[in-house]
This record gives sequence, structure tokens and C-alpha cells, in this order.
Amino acid sequence: MKNSIKLIAIICTAIVFVTANMAMAQKAGGPWTVPAKYKSMKTTVKAGDASINTVGKETYNKHCKSCHGAKGLGDGPKAANLKTSTSNFSTAKFQAYSDGEIYYMSFIGRDEMPNFEKKILDEADRWAVVGYIRTMKK
Ligand code: HEC
Repeated sequence: MKNSIKLIAIICTAIVFVTANMAMAQKAGGPWTVPAKYKSMKTTVKAGDASINTVGKETYNKHCKSCHGAKGLGDGPKAANLKTSTSNFSTAKFQAYSDGEIYYMSFIGRDEMPNFEKKILDEADRWAVVGYIRTMKK
């Protein structure tokens, strides 16, 4: 009898622990440390450039949408399975990042944010993606 009570207690503790972990599972990523050489980068694709809604959008939909969502709200189908929040590109806080900072976070990445240096090779295509992310501003 004593042993079964002990067992039940252990099981209950385990359930509480697992549930608590699930609830806390998705954490907001901490601040990014963007190296100076990226921070100072300037886009070569100006707002309104035709490549933003063609190449930029297509590249984003192919490589980014699955996690970040069609509008950058962080609600892509893969987002729920991640430990880190995929952020929200429509907010003023996000849009306050410089072009170079968005470039670094987008193509160099860290942890669950993949590196795209080998998948998106063309510099102009990368800037078109940054330009497309700029259009997600609320
Ligand atoms: C497998 C899912 C996944 C894919 C695909 C993905 N991302 Fe991410 N992204 C993440 C996660 C998770 C984070 C948060 C990482 C962190 O904070 O450590 C993130 C963070 C970012 C951030 C920084 C957001 C912020 O506010 O800190 C940018 C910008 C970004 N991603 C752009 C992109 C772009 C552009 C693509 C496509 C080329 C892309 N991501 C593809 C998962 C993904």
C-alpha cells in the first residue's frame, strides 16, 4: 500500500513537471549579437523595387513561411514544434532593426533559426527578402 502511494506520488510529480515544461516550452529568443560588419550593411534593394514582390516574396515563401507564417506573424505550421518563438515581423520593435541586422538574423541565424548562406546564394535575392519582410510592417 505504502509503495503504491509512493508510486502515485511519483507519477503525479512527473505529470506536473512535464505539463509545466510544455507550457513554458516556447521562449522568446534573447537579444541578438550582430557583428559590426553586418550591422553596418546597407540594402541594395530599395523599398518599392520590383524584385521585392517577385524574388523576395517567392524566396520567403519557399524558405521562411513554414516557420514565420505568410505575413511574418510567427504562425507558420512548423512554429509550434520549436522551442524558440519565431518573433513577429509586423511589430514596430522588429521593424526598428537595421537592414544589416535583419540580414544577419535571416541568413546567418542561430540555434533554431537556420543558416541560409548556402541555400540563398545571391546577394540581391537576400536583400529582396529583407525588402519583403519590410512590407510586413503593420
Ligand atoms: C525551421 C524554422 C525556421 C525557418 C525555416 C526560418 N526561421 Fe527565422 N527564426 C526561427 C526561429 C526559431 C527564430 C528565433 C531564433 C532565436 O531567437 O534564437 C527565428 C528568428 C528569425 C529572425 C529574428 C527575429 C527576431 O525578432 O529576433 C529573423 C529576421 C528571421 N528569423 C528571418 C528568417 C528568414 C528570412 C527565413 C527564410 C530565409 C527564416 N527566418 C526561416 C525559425 C525559422
